[in-house]
Amino acid sequence: MNSEQIQQLIAEMTLEEKVGQLTQFAGVFYSTHENDTPLTGRIDFPVNETIIEASGSVLGIAGAKKLIDIQEMHLQKSRLKIPLLFMADVINGYETIFPIPLGLGSTWDPELVEELQAVSAKEAASAGLHVSFAPMVDLVRDPRWGRVMESTGEDPYLNEQFAEATVRGLQGSDLLHNMDHIAACVKHFAAYGAAEAGRDYNTVDLSERELREMHMPAYIAALNAGVKLVMTAFNTVHSIPASANTQLLRGMLRKEYGFDGVVISDYGAVQELIPHGVAENEEEAAEKALRAGVDIDMMSLCYAQSLSELIHEKKLDESLLDEAVERILQLKNDLGLFEDPYRATSEEREQATLGHASHKQLARKAAEKSAVLLKNENVLPLQDRERLALIGPYADNNDLLGEWSIFGKMEDTATLKDKLEPTFYAKGAEMYERNQKLLDEALHIANQADIIVLALGEGRDRSGEGRSRASITLAPCQIELAKKLKELGKPIVVTLFNARPLDLSELEPYVDAILECWHPGSEGAAAIINLLFGKANPSGKLTMSFPRATGQIPVYYNSYQTGRPLPAGSDERFFSRYIDIANEPLYPFGFGLSYAAFEYSQLRATNLNLQKTETLTVEVDVTNTSDVAGEEIVQLYLQDPVAEVVRPVKELKGFKKILLAPHETKTITFEINEEMLRYHHSDLTYSSDPGTFFVYINGSSKCDEANKLELQLIHS
Ligand code: IFM
Repeated sequence: MNSEQIQQLIAEMTLEEKVGQLTQFAGVFYSTHENDTPLTGRIDFPVNETIIEASGSVLGIAGAKKLIDIQEMHLQKSRLKIPLLFMADVINGYETIFPIPLGLGSTWDPELVEELQAVSAKEAASAGLHVSFAPMVDLVRDPRWGRVMESTGEDPYLNEQFAEATVRGLQGSDLLHNMDHIAACVKHFAAYGAAEAGRDYNTVDLSERELREMHMPAYIAALNAGVKLVMTAFNTVHSIPASANTQLLRGMLRKEYGFDGVVISDYGAVQELIPHGVAENEEEAAEKALRAGVDIDMMSLCYAQSLSELIHEKKLDESLLDEAVERILQLKNDLGLFEDPYRATSEEREQATLGHASHKQLARKAAEKSAVLLKNENVLPLQDRERLALIGPYADNNDLLGEWSIFGKMEDTATLKDKLEPTFYAKGAEMYERNQKLLDEALHIANQADIIVLALGEGRDRSGEGRSRASITLAPCQIELAKKLKELGKPIVVTLFNARPLDLSELEPYVDAILECWHPGSEGAAAIINLLFGKANPSGKLTMSFPRATGQIPVYYNSYQTGRPLPAGSDERFFSRYIDIANEPLYPFGFGLSYAAFEYSQLRATNLNLQKTETLTVEVDVTNTSDVAGEEIVQLYLQDPVAEVVRPVKELKGFKKILLAPHETKTITFEINEEMLRYHHSDLTYSSDPGTFFVYINGSSKCDEANKLELQLIHS
């Protein structure tokens, strides 16, 4: 269809048909399978058949046969034969599940993420889906928030890379003709990751500069990559809920950033304008949301029940409705649905695609690359399977797929125990509850072995949407298990399965190694075994700081310079510090160990002066000083020590993932240009200042202060 034909179609539509295009309801209203759709909010509203039949898209349901049937039935009833759009949360895989996004972030490998998101799209498309509600690119700094697992972390630059990679992977380069790709929806616009105190759905209150400097870059990267949809956030932005925020949606998103795709609300967010206290009733909520620029009302009855009347009563101009309908029809057209409403879906295609061996292989690779080795006191890699005891509530637990893996099959997921087949195994504790019998048994079993692999963590029931925690320690029964095992005097290797940074300060002194495995996906267990035995070498690095106490939150590497920075080694009182713990997190952003060891030397630049229109090259030599090959993530940080407004102590501006053979040295180069030194000034202009800046190149954000380069930016 061309745009004239779309206009023609709109001209033929009744008001009710147009409003229908702007509504979306969950799959439970379409399918007889009860547990089809994950419901993440209210469902208790009186939605009737007429509303469902008129609706233009469906949420959270998949499966080739099911969706073919629903589309067929819909088209039989649809007067103008406008096909349905099927949308769902395919976040880290459809049936083949990859590590949770926080784990994917830890790979620091956007190319890998693009590749696996393409696989994710291929599987989802074969199951009849048209849109994934990914990427979630919210910048996160508070691990109490259950949804940090869906983000790639605390850094704007890194989040940009993953936002772009995910959009490219999902959408491909020819969405219209390549049926193996689906449309992406970037979310949650904007700043959902900044909910106060990490409590889900809570207030967000940010300065305009912070919003633009830290949170916006990743959304913008997704827009620049051509993302087709944007989902609004539940929270307020400058005191107005995102779904009623004209300045945010029509101002920034459409006018400033030039987005012309579909804006969809989050689940029930239009109706939530009422409890937010910015709308008196459903009618006002509908009016505000449409005026602000929300095209699709997901899972509320506001649009369905009020828009026609608002337009009849001339409270809303029909042109606003038409604009939204046009964007939705355009999306359907971009997906080729007017030509083939089924997008070549068939049960045969689905069967040939889902869980393909190559997808599983990729899932294993991603799980290996996402794991982060946090501690290793000469115990890993393991040598001997025979004398090993596998202990812990996560040892025989297949809860490895992560909270959003709604189409993944937990029952088919191998556990560590399945893959390791250990001689000695004991559970030791329930996940969150102490059990004396299990504890005694574990101590008895572990005592017969030489080394203990202790599988701990928290399951999907403790993370994800609506699962904020006030305290982010491991369950006391798990800590007790580690402490008692320590008394046996044998080395303990912890494999941690969790979906947020945890406070590990109580556990850490009792164990010899910690491998952060995240919720690693379908092939997680096999990947972790490979890592434990050195068949794969850990290379992941954290993209979110691990605090040393909950009271330290938020703690993030790119914090602002204070007027009283604590001098190194000082414990004097009147500096910015805690009197009971160190300022630094337990494990910082960018940190992760390897079985290899890397040394950085000879940091140098081609020129110490950077002209505004030129590029300067900095170099460093990285040497693998060990006898094993390993991958290192070389990180470039810049600091602008004196500026018009207070600037971060450092900012990531580049990284390279390199493979070094034993004792190999490589020279790694980064280009620096003026654009990388720009920031938002007090009047929000985005530009650089001439003067000094510092360069650090390192294997983590904890940079060696003695090893930095001082460069000058010249504006002439
Ligand atoms: O996509 C999600 C969103 O991230 C949270 N609320 C529900 C939506 C649809 O499932």
